[in-house]
Amino acid sequence: MMYSEKVLDHFRNPRNVGEIEDADGVGSVGNPVCGDVMSIYIKVKDDKIDDIKFKTFGCGAAIATTSMTTELAKGKTLDEAMTITRQDVADELGGLPPVKMHCSNLAADALHEAIENYRGKKK
Ligand code: FES
Repeated sequence: MMYSEKVLDHFRNPRNVGEIEDADGVGSVGNPVCGDVMSIYIKVKDDKIDDIKFKTFGCGAAIATTSMTTELAKGKTLDEAMTITRQDVADELGGLPPVKMHCSNLAADALHEAIENYRGKKK
């Protein structure tokens, strides 16, 4: 299986790993294909993602895609972050092996859920 240099870099040095204790929104999703889980924590300021962290029991591809997702999402408005798709993340990483595309679902789904969680709390 071939991984791009970017995927390997994000796998070896994942960005924004951890947990935000007083997070404004949390999204946790499970992957129906493999059973792995992903949590994303966000802090929101002026309707923008001010800080973001993630924790996962996922594989290397899940770690790399979520690391990239957090980088893409940081500083974006919530509306912009809602439009980030797994395809954007895979493209940004220089592609993923087709058998690993399901792993990239976790990142985008958990991000969107964290935003919805935040919006739900504000109501
Ligand atoms: Fe489960 Fe990749 S194999 S997230």
